[in-house]
Amino acid sequence: MNVRVFSLGQLLAGFIMFLSSSASSPPHDELKPRTRGGNHHDHGQQESPSNGCDLFEGSWVLDASYPLYNASQCPFVASALNCQKNGRPDDAYLHYRWQPTACQISRFDGRAFLERMRGKKVMFVGDSLSANQWQSLACMLHAAVPNAIYVLGSRGPLTTLSFPEYGVSVIFLKNGFLVSLVGRTLKLDALSRSDMWLGLDVLIFNSYHWWLHSGRFRTWDSYQIGDKIFKDMDVIEAYRIALTTWANWVDSNVDPVRTRVFFQGISASHYRGTEWNEPNVQNCSGQTRPVEGSTYPGNKPPGDAVVKGVLSSMKRPAVLLDIALLTQLRKDGHPSTYSDVRLDCSHWCLAGVPDTWNQLLYAVLVES
Ligand SMILES: *[C@@H]1O[C@H](CO)[C@@H](O)[C@H](O)[C@H]1NC(C)=O
Ligand SMILES: *[C@@H]1O[C@H](CO)[C@@H](O)[C@H](O)[C@H]1NC(C)=O
Repeated sequence: MNVRVFSLGQLLAGFIMFLSSSASSPPHDELKPRTRGGNHHDHGQQESPSNGCDLFEGSWVLDASYPLYNASQCPFVASALNCQKNGRPDDAYLHYRWQPTACQISRFDGRAFLERMRGKKVMFVGDSLSANQWQSLACMLHAAVPNAIYVLGSRGPLTTLSFPEYGVSVIFLKNGFLVSLVGRTLKLDALSRSDMWLGLDVLIFNSYHWWLHSGRFRTWDSYQIGDKIFKDMDVIEAYRIALTTWANWVDSNVDPVRTRVFFQGISASHYRGTEWNEPNVQNCSGQTRPVEGSTYPGNKPPGDAVVKGVLSSMKRPAVLLDIALLTQLRKDGHPSTYSDVRLDCSHWCLAGVPDTWNQLLYAVLVES
């Protein structure tokens, strides 16, 4: 028996806001995640997973035992991401597994995840790529326990999926810049909705793609630090300052005994074939195979070095889900024209690439 409490409307509407949204932080009275006692036996945190082997160096291999779920049987997938339902003719992209070069990762076990997380709350904070990962995890869990009761709630920027039998909540908080947008000024030293980041057991942050918005999608025209206004700051520098504000908050406010903090690295887009040695290709449409091997011809996006620099300056560094390379290789994984927009080479079909992000999250959480 499944129990759905709120409609999915807001979730889907929120998801579509990627291209147009503003992250202003009005006063809010959103549904606060339920507080409840839990067993917190995650002492002795260890930040480097799997015996020091790098989970994020590797290549994609075909594996007929994937995908882990059928998106058409998952109630949490935005229709824009259900590429099969939207008529995508090829399906090889569903059958790839990430193979780290130097280690094995165990298959995602949704029941073990729920048992291990019993009584805990997991929150994704960020833009629509966080929503993409949240939807993926929701589907992976639902597919593992299809008969378990679930409760889905959506209020303001928060979407909460709970499995009451396990006391587990998996939450998405829309927060594309992490810092506050007031009017058309991004306040680089003031976080947005950070009160809602308290009391969680696992936090997975992300912010980058909104910073790259231009033209009519750009929702700001100046930056503020303290009482100084800046008109011409380099956007990557502004991003670095904002992430530093976030990092300082984590260092000062997160109890490392209770809460694991992750940062979802930079997810690649595919709008320039020159990056993967197909100079005549302008986008991801028609791409049906990943880049072979474990190197990508194109550079890392500029945000990648910023994220790594800020994380390394933290007193207690957040764990980086370093998805830059593994997403760069997946020029075939985007909705492309099988979306509800004309062309989407930024988000990811579900089932698909974000399932691997969750598998890696699981590897770090459960195995370390
Ligand atoms: C996925 O589920 C849909 C709806 O139940 C079904 O029509 C489709 O055949 C399934 N796809 C696969 C690959 O099993
Ligand atoms: C996407 O790429 C294809 C082939 O490279 C091209 O025909 C099409 O016009 C491009 N679409 C957009 C919206 O740029």
